[in-house]
Amino acid sequence: KKYTVLIPAAGSGSRMGAGFNKLFLELVDKPILIHTLEVFENDPSCEGMILSVKEEERLDISRMIAQFGITKVKMLVEGGAERQQSVAACIHAHPSNGIILVHDAARPFIRHEVIRQLVETADVQGAAIAGVRVKDTMKTASDTIVEGTIDRSTLWSIQTPQAFRYEVLKEASDKAEADGFLGTDESMIVERLGFPVHIVESAYDNVKMTTKEDLLFGEVLLKHRRQ
Ligand code: CTP
Ligand code: MG
Repeated sequence: KKYTVLIPAAGSGSRMGAGFNKLFLELVDKPILIHTLEVFENDPSCEGMILSVKEEERLDISRMIAQFGITKVKMLVEGGAERQQSVAACIHAHPSNGIILVHDAARPFIRHEVIRQLVETADVQGAAIAGVRVKDTMKTASDTIVEGTIDRSTLWSIQTPQAFRYEVLKEASDKAEADGFLGTDESMIVERLGFPVHIVESAYDNVKMTTKEDLLFGEVLLKHRRQ
């Protein structure tokens, strides 16, 4: 089953503290952004990628895409102040009736098998997201005083990709915009429709490059995979 992937890349990487968009940081031999794009470049089921970028980074990113031989990027659209707006810009740029994935540019280690399962589940069910079971004991607290402990067996830590039939994602995105609702992932805006979202069990190594420690983990993982 074919799909198109929307890739928000218009962040500023403030928690990484590099002083510029973290997606330009090199992991072993290539920028983080390129590692992520290569996953989809090398997946025969991926028909195209649409990236949202900061206007001032458009030229550098399009050069980088050409330099590393990435051929499936169909469009660079202008991102927004919030991640959800950057994704909405991609949705508007790509009317479709197929399967759409949304994937953070900052998650270069996503596995093909997880993508395949997400696409298959979204095709049948309409909405599927990647996640892993939480490993730690989870508590709620008021300030730093424990209120209680949440049954861990009900908790998932959610990642991207998140996969949808286009019309489901489009309706969710339009409604969120009309209501002024801002979510931290696409699933949140789809959940608001009352539409069931399915979790596909992913891998713990699908980490988002967010802080400095993530880069260390990323380098080790990349070297390990190449052995
Ligand atoms: N993103 C985006 N537009 C925004 C904010 C984020 O396209 N306005 C993208 C980022 O480029 C990243 C993905 O969304 O690929 C996940 O966001 P996150 O990891 O939070 O990246 P940043 O927002 O760049 O980092 P930070 O929150 O630390 O500033
Ligand atoms: Mg952010």
